Amino acid sequence: MKKFAVIGNPVDHSRSPEIHALFAAQAGVDLTYERRLAPLDGFEENVRGFVAEGGDGFNVTVPFKHNAFKLMDEVTRMAALTRAVNTVTVLADDKLKGDNTDGAGLLRDVTANLGWTVAGQRILVLGAGGAVAGVLPALLEIKPDLVHLVNRTHQRAQVLADEYENVKAVRGDDVESAYDLIISGTSAGLSGTVVNIPSRVVGTNTHCYDMIYGKEVTIFNQWASEAGCKQTSDGLGMLVEQAALAFDAWSGFRPDTRPVISALRDLISRSDSL
Ligand code: ATR
Repeated sequence: MKKFAVIGNPVDHSRSPEIHALFAAQAGVDLTYERRLAPLDGFEENVRGFVAEGGDGFNVTVPFKHNAFKLMDEVTRMAALTRAVNTVTVLADDKLKGDNTDGAGLLRDVTANLGWTVAGQRILVLGAGGAVAGVLPALLEIKPDLVHLVNRTHQRAQVLADEYENVKAVRGDDVESAYDLIISGTSAGLSGTVVNIPSRVVGTNTHCYDMIYGKEVTIFNQWASEAGCKQTSDGLGMLVEQAALAFDAWSGFRPDTRPVISALRDLISRSDSL
């Protein structure tokens, strides 16, 4: 039986085991998929332990995606561009191959599942941390008209924007009106913080995507709806899509994500924790 895992800290909230179990049922294969809590200074040791136990592949979550990148023997182009790895395949001789499926997962959710357009659109991205850095290159490949980056700490947005020709860091007061698409990649909502950018960024045709998800409508999406946007989505679909790309990398089987997104939505609505 093939053996997979997600390694993070914290990791007990991770839904990846449930998602991969649903994919495995679709594919008609048996596998194990465990949560592994690595100490903050013990990521590499945890990885080596898992590989020694016969692990075939693993996902990496907060805060280890950059550490994982540094451990890889081979990386995909997207992992190289983001310098972050969320999906690792254990190759022959225990060599590790790293990919980053977060950006492609976001795009599959936004374009294929939600039917929103990215190409040629005016996009505002909130945040400049790991979550945003991990998806920007994939977003830029679809050739938006413009990408503005706004972050609580402007300097951090500036540093990230400087890496890309078509990304501009803007201060909260300098944002434009009525972007076509707004993607929130901050962790602010997790701590209950309100959104503090001018509501003019939202127009009646604006689509708003929050990369986080929860049992209740996220704080960003509540704000976006109140500001009059066209449609909102949280990041549950992105979570399932990035996992589907990992499953495909490991098994060659491309899962049907729609029933899995519905099942997860159900699971979360019934859970106490989220
Ligand atoms: P992640 O890997 O989840 O992106 P991160 O790299 O720590 O985590 O980035 C968190 C992002 O959320 C950053 O853009 C952060 O803004 P700063 O760069 O100013 O820290 C943003 N963020 C976190 N808490 C926030 C809050 N209360 N208000 C606004 N932005 C917040």
